Amino acid sequence: MAQQVALVTGASSGIGAQTARALHDAGFVVYGAARRVERMNELARTGVRTLSMDVTDEASLRGGVDRVLAESGRIDVLVNNAGYGSYGAVEDVPLAEARAQFDVNVFGAAALIRLVLPGMRERRSGTIVNISSMGGRIYTPMGAWYHATKYALEALSDSLRLEVAPFGIRVVIIEPGAIRTEWGQIAADNLRSVSGDGAYHDVAERTATMLAGSSRPDASMVSDPSVIARTVVRAAKARRPRTRYAVGAGAKPLILTRKVLPDRVFDRLITRVVASRG
Ligand SMILES: NC(=O)c1ccc[n+]([C@@H]2O[C@H](COP(=O)([O-])OP(=O)(O)OC[C@H]3O[C@@H](n4cnc5c(N)ncnc54)[C@H](OP(=O)(O)O)[C@@H]3O)[C@@H](O)[C@H]2O)c1
Repeated sequence: MAQQVALVTGASSGIGAQTARALHDAGFVVYGAARRVERMNELARTGVRTLSMDVTDEASLRGGVDRVLAESGRIDVLVNNAGYGSYGAVEDVPLAEARAQFDVNVFGAAALIRLVLPGMRERRSGTIVNISSMGGRIYTPMGAWYHATKYALEALSDSLRLEVAPFGIRVVIIEPGAIRTEWGQIAADNLRSVSGDGAYHDVAERTATMLAGSSRPDASMVSDPSVIARTVVRAAKARRPRTRYAVGAGAKPLILTRKVLPDRVFDRLITRVVASRG
């Protein structure tokens, strides 16, 4: 059987870098895509093929997909992983930034899905893996726009799964918990710059401390990105993958807690968790 071909976005860091490497180790031909191509030099040395791609730029997405198809003839697995956390109070976050958050976390993924589906439908096979978050099932203060994008990605994935199943195409949602990557520090920096000084200062600072903590090398109660990478490989190789994989620190218990608790009780729980930080 021909080697399976995978395209992974956000491969210059964290979960994407580890996923690209793990898929390569599992025998896939892997293309890793990101804006910072130089950050993927080490991956390239291991045999991962690297692509310059900005998921908010349709021409760059089309160029990347065309290159994979020209070189390898097909895309069997698409891993939509590129993303960041735009944190800040709803009152403070400029709508242009909220739109930018949706452009990367939702429309970037959707644009790539649209580009790979014709080939997958033709071959009547393929797997689309969308990296959501436990934040696609639960919510925190200061995270409204990030959660909005991940809730949206979950809904998009659920509808898509029904649409493409008749063509033999699988759609998988991954819901990472707290993972030790640059994500937490980037989200904390965004939060402090947007809400650090105003009416929401206290909760913003506590939330930022919590977010930044997950990026520290000595952070406890966070998981290594390899946990997510292994899950993606398992899903990509499965004949009948699960629809959702909640993995990494906190993901399963928090999602379950949200499921069973009434809104007000969950509100109090999250408020208490944030208040205990900082
Ligand atoms: N870390 C966590 O605790 C956690 C938890 C749940 C879910 N997640 C999700 O996991 C995914 C990966 O995050 P991570 O933790 O690995 O964070 P990370 O280390 O900050 O990596 C984010 C990746 O996304 C890429 N990216 C951002 N904007 C992009 C754009 N416009 N075009 C192309 N690539 C872009 C970055 O590459 P360039 O900047 O080089 O383009 C980078 O490779 C995200 O979707 C995140 O929301 C993370």
